[in-house]
Amino acid sequence: MGTSRELITGQYKEFIETGISIVDGYWSRVMDWPYDLQIIHQQLFQVSQARSKIVGGAAGGHGPMREFKDRVANTEAVIKAVPKLWELYVKTAFYINEIVFAHQSPEKVILSPDLESAITFKHYQGIGSTHGWHLETNGITGLYYLTNCDDGPLEYLPPDSDYPSEANINDVRRYYSRKDNLVILKGHNVWHQVRPMTDPNSIRACLVFNYYFEGDTSRPEGLNEIHYQ
Ligand SMILES: [Fe+2]
Repeated sequence: MGTSRELITGQYKEFIETGISIVDGYWSRVMDWPYDLQIIHQQLFQVSQARSKIVGGAAGGHGPMREFKDRVANTEAVIKAVPKLWELYVKTAFYINEIVFAHQSPEKVILSPDLESAITFKHYQGIGSTHGWHLETNGITGLYYLTNCDDGPLEYLPPDSDYPSEANINDVRRYYSRKDNLVILKGHNVWHQVRPMTDPNSIRACLVFNYYFEGDTSRPEGLNEIHYQ
């Protein structure tokens, strides 16, 4: 893949320090198919469904209460609409292992044992569209951006921070992604959210790739029903 050792070291250092690592111009690093992210986005939008619900806390599910206001499509719908995205998902597991973790971590990243939640398409549009503060139940997540993200930035706290509050609000970082960027995120340790959108005309869309570490594959029972139904 022609990635220099310096980039590998830099990405791993960034990942450990901030909990996320950003790879720009990602598609062509691992795929040799031609692609058009606008068409992929349209095809996924057509199979997605609107979701507006509160999960977690007393509402049930994992972690504190948070809001989902978005459109989603699960793995089956995604790969039916755009089959080559399964290849992107698999290659991204290799990429994370080989590039970010190469020779530096004994942990091995594996595909999701739960198929339904392996790949999720997320589309955010309209004032208040959001996915509130949460940790992942899986150890590592890849966010692949299909659009630029000028509204609804990814907000996140340093690894192992407490739940976001007045006390650590100054530690929150914001990332306005560009399309075709991959963000690798430490799922268990990094509190993150999609900041509620404020511009009625903006759209942001991404694919969420769930991965696990070998030996850390548990997923709370019933989570898919709570999240996707
Ligand atoms: Fe997340």
